[in-house]
This record gives sequence, structure tokens and C-alpha cells, in this order.
Amino acid sequence: MSIKIVGVDGAVREGSKTRALLEVTGEAIVRNGGAFDWLSQATEPLPIFDGKSQTAQHPAVQRLFALSRDADAFILSSPEYHGSMSGALKNALDWMTSDFGGVDVSGKLFGLVGGGGAMGNSGAIVQMMMAVRSMHGWVMPDVMVSATNIWEAVESSPARIVDDKLMARVDVFAAKVVGYASRFQEMRLRMAA
Ligand SMILES: Cc1cc2nc3c(=O)[nH]c(=O)nc-3n(C[C@H](O)[C@H](O)[C@H](O)COP(=O)(O)O)c2cc1C
Repeated sequence: MSIKIVGVDGAVREGSKTRALLEVTGEAIVRNGGAFDWLSQATEPLPIFDGKSQTAQHPAVQRLFALSRDADAFILSSPEYHGSMSGALKNALDWMTSDFGGVDVSGKLFGLVGGGGAMGNSGAIVQMMMAVRSMHGWVMPDVMVSATNIWEAVESSPARIVDDKLMARVDVFAAKVVGYASRFQEMRLRMAA
């Protein structure tokens, strides 16, 4: 059974480095035997969550729902914006589990990536962990990708990592996401039987 991994882009900014990092991570997931699909907020920006079923009909929201329904695991990508996760990622998470067609992500695996300045996206990572915990998901604990000075390590057009150490970490991360996601898939199937 294939392992479906869904990336959620937490940046709307044109030329976003964290989006490029997510794209390269997706390629590494495919090299490691997983299937990868993602929501790019460059081309499909989500409207602000407003708790209205009419807004939930927006094509980007509907695509997020469809991707999330089938996912075995998620990769959340956030830049460090003011020591925090981006509003765009938080907004995506608010839609993902909403009562207007959102999905139950409990028992699903989440890998975290992103970047920022000297401390990478450490503030965003802490917040992503808290958000995933409140959605009853499992954050992959041992490998995360937090790119320091991401503007030097990642090119956005085309998406490319130019720092060898960061690329090596992305490769290990991708292999672990695919490996753990397949264990989680087995566990969910056993629990449902
Ligand atoms: C509004 C804003 C706030 C930022 N705040 C921080 C910060 O608190 N710490 C940090 O290291 N970098 C900060 N940065 C730098 C970004 O992390 C960096 O530009 C990164 O490339 C942003 O990701 P993006 O290219 O995906 O937008 C900030 C950038 C913006 C636009």
C-alpha cells in the first residue's frame, strides 16, 4: 500500500524559501518510496478561516480537505516570522480540522520543516508541535529540518538546496517520514480492524 504524504505550505510570499524547502523535501520523499502531494499557497492561497461554510467551499480549502482526507502523514512548513509560526500555516491548520468539511487527523504523523535566521525556525517549531498535539497528531520527534539563514541555503526558483549539510538532513528526514508513516499506517489499520 502506498504511503501518502501531504505537504502544507505555510508561506504566501512569492519566492518563499520555506516553500522551496518543502518542494525539495517532497522530491526526497518520492526518492524514498513515498507519494507526495502538497498545497502551495503561492498558487492556491487559503482564505482566512472565518467559520463560515460558504468560505469552506473555496477551491483551495476544498483541496486541502481532499489532500488531508487521504494523507498518511503531513509535512508542515513554516518560516520563522517574529519568533512564531506563520499566520498562513496556522490558518491552514484551522481549516484542516474545521467543522465545515475538515478531517480528523488524530493518530497521523507530522514532520516539521522550515527556516529562518540564526536560530532557524525554532520558535515556529515549538508552536507547530503544540498545534499538532492539540489536533491529536504525532510529531516526528527525532528529525526536524530547521534551516538556519535559509536565504543562503535555499534557492527558490527553481527550488534547490545549495547547502550540502541541509540537503543531507532533508534526505534523512524524508527517509524517516516514509518509514514512520508506514508504521503508523499499519497501526491505524490494526486499530480499525
Ligand atoms: C514578517 C517577518 C518576520 C520575521 N521574523 C523573523 C524572526 O523572528 N526570526 C528570524 O530568524 N527570522 C525572521 N524573519 C526572516 C525570515 O525567517 C526569512 O526571511 C525566511 O526566509 C522567511 O521564509 P520565507 O522565505 O518562506 O518567507 C522574518 C521575516 C518576515 C517577513
